[in-house]
Amino acid sequence: MSEQSLSVREAIIGRRSIKKFNGQPVDREDLMQIIDDAVWAPNHQNREPWRLVVACGKELFDLHELLRNMAIPKWKELTEETLEKQMQKFTTPGAYVFVIVPEDVRQKQRLEDYAAASIFIQNIQLLAWDYGIGACWKTPDFLDAPAFREALGVKQGERIISMLQLGYFDDLPKAAERKKAKEIVTIFGQLENNEEE
Ligand SMILES: Cc1cc2nc3c(=O)[nH]c(=O)nc-3n(C[C@H](O)[C@H](O)[C@H](O)COP(=O)(O)O)c2cc1C
Repeated sequence: MSEQSLSVREAIIGRRSIKKFNGQPVDREDLMQIIDDAVWAPNHQNREPWRLVVACGKELFDLHELLRNMAIPKWKELTEETLEKQMQKFTTPGAYVFVIVPEDVRQKQRLEDYAAASIFIQNIQLLAWDYGIGACWKTPDFLDAPAFREALGVKQGERIISMLQLGYFDDLPKAAERKKAKEIVTIFGQLENNEEE
C-alpha cells in the first residue's frame, strides 16, 4: 500500500480520469481493499445494489482477447503493429472492474440503485487515487452486447454500468473547467438568480 493519505477534499478535487496508463500491474490485495472500503457508499434500504467482475493479474490476458473481439471485430484484417496500437487503451490498465447493477422493474428503485452504484464507483476512484492508482469509468457500447454479458456471467435483470479501468500513470491530465457554485445555484425563493450582483 502507498504512503499517500489525502484529505477527502484533496482526493475529490485532485482526482482526474486517467485514460493513459503506464502498464504497471495493480496489486490484487490493494484492489480488494479498495473495494472493501468503497462498499460504504450510501444505498437505500441497504440493498447494496452492485456486484463486480474483476480482472487483475493473469486473467487480464483472456480479458484483452475478449475486449479485442468486442471493440475491434475486424482485428484479423489489421497488421500486428496497428492492432497492438489500437489495443493499447485496453492492455495498459493494470486492473479492470466491471460494475453490475440489478435492474429493478420499479423505476424508483432502479434509479436509486443506479445512483448508489455510481457513488460506490466514485468511492473506488477516490480510494484508488489515494493509492496513486488512476481510474476511468468507461461505457463502451459493447457493455450491453449479449456476447459480452455472457462472457461476464451477467444475468437477465442485471446491467453492466461501468467498465472501470485502473492503473498507474506517468502524466496527470489537465483538469477540465468546472462551473462555480454561483453559476449553478439558485437561492430558494429567488426566481431570477445571480443577475443583479
Ligand atoms: C457515467 C460515465 C461514463 C463515462 N464514460 C466514459 C467513456 O466511455 N470513455 C471515456 O473516455 N471517459 C468516460 N467517462 C469519464 C469522463 O470522460 C470524465 O469523467 C470527464 O471527462 C471529466 O474528467 P475528470 O473525471 O478527470 O474530472 C465517463 C464518466 C462517467 C461518470
